[in-house]
Amino acid sequence: MKVAVVGYGHIGKQHCINIIENDRLELAYICDPYIQADDLPDGLDESCLVTDYDEFIESCPEIDLLIIATPNNLHYPMLEKAMTQYPFAGTPILVEKPVVIKSEHIDKLQNIQEQRVKDGIGEIPIFVNYPLRFLPSVNVLKNSWESIGKIRVANVGVFWNRNKGYYEAANWRGKLEEEGGPLFNEFIHHLDLISYLGGEIVIESGSIGDYAHKYTEVEDTGIINFNFVDGGLGVITYTVATPNKSFDVNLHFIGDKGSAKLTGLYTNRLLINDDVYEFPINRKHYAQVLTAISDYLIDGHRDERLCMMDEGLKLVASINKFYSITR
Ligand SMILES: NC(=O)c1ccc[n+]([C@@H]2O[C@H](COP(=O)([O-])OP(=O)(O)OC[C@H]3O[C@@H](n4cnc5c(N)ncnc54)[C@H](O)[C@@H]3O)[C@@H](O)[C@H]2O)c1
Repeated sequence: MKVAVVGYGHIGKQHCINIIENDRLELAYICDPYIQADDLPDGLDESCLVTDYDEFIESCPEIDLLIIATPNNLHYPMLEKAMTQYPFAGTPILVEKPVVIKSEHIDKLQNIQEQRVKDGIGEIPIFVNYPLRFLPSVNVLKNSWESIGKIRVANVGVFWNRNKGYYEAANWRGKLEEEGGPLFNEFIHHLDLISYLGGEIVIESGSIGDYAHKYTEVEDTGIINFNFVDGGLGVITYTVATPNKSFDVNLHFIGDKGSAKLTGLYTNRLLINDDVYEFPINRKHYAQVLTAISDYLIDGHRDERLCMMDEGLKLVASINKFYSITR
């Protein structure tokens, strides 16, 4: 499968490495206006570098998968272009989280898919990148969920450190219009895990604070109270203002049959009742998302860990509901 990666930054480079190492994938293009031929991965010809996204899509490149790994605010216009520019439209897409950051863009993307169904040409396969779903710790917990039973309460704490260097490394980070806030940039992964494991949630209330990041436009700390749609309560405490370094990640799930806790800074430790699991820390879960997508597109085998656009958009709506309550 020929793949184009749009945005050759921190995560775009990771996708390129994973494509190069995957026998079923070929890195055909990198699209980024801010890189030079010298920056390309070894073995990639200068002709593979494109700088203008709109022109690229209009030229209808022969690719089987488009990966959008640009700043959060660019996801919507780039998705909209790729989904509606014929004859390119129809090409499968992997978009980085968050799918979009503005609520008004949710309906617009869903309408494009609905119109395609009405026109008899079917929905475009659009995947959202949630690699934590592919962690071995998460796999074991998902497969053992029977021993937790019906969720009663979830208590989640993510205590990270993001320092000035992190925000200075990319000028969109920490900006209201471009990043959207730490729930879109960091903690969306944990919100996704909660609903992936415990079921759909509805955010009810919460509060935000800003303690160590006066130089950003968004909060650095928050507490979210939520309900599971099928019953059960939850709370998430998140911060990027932990002094000096990241401290802890923990997701406790208490059900009517048992209890579980995912923990460790890399979510690599798991406790299910009396059983303790510890998994190696690596980045294999990023590569596994791409393997699952190629298996789906080539063989038709759908890995349930893949997050599709509709599911990703529900999370965007939940985060915006929280921000409408707290900002
Ligand atoms: N799934 C994950 O685990 C994960 C991890 C990190 C980041 N992300 C997401 O990936 C996206 C990128 O994050 P990052 O940390 O790699 O950011 P980054 O700033 O390191 O990289 C963004 C890249 O996009 C390029 N770019 C900007 N405008 C462009 C345009 N018009 N056309 C093409 N390229 C353009 C920039 O030059 C840069 O190279 C964000 O949406 C972020 O939320 C996801």
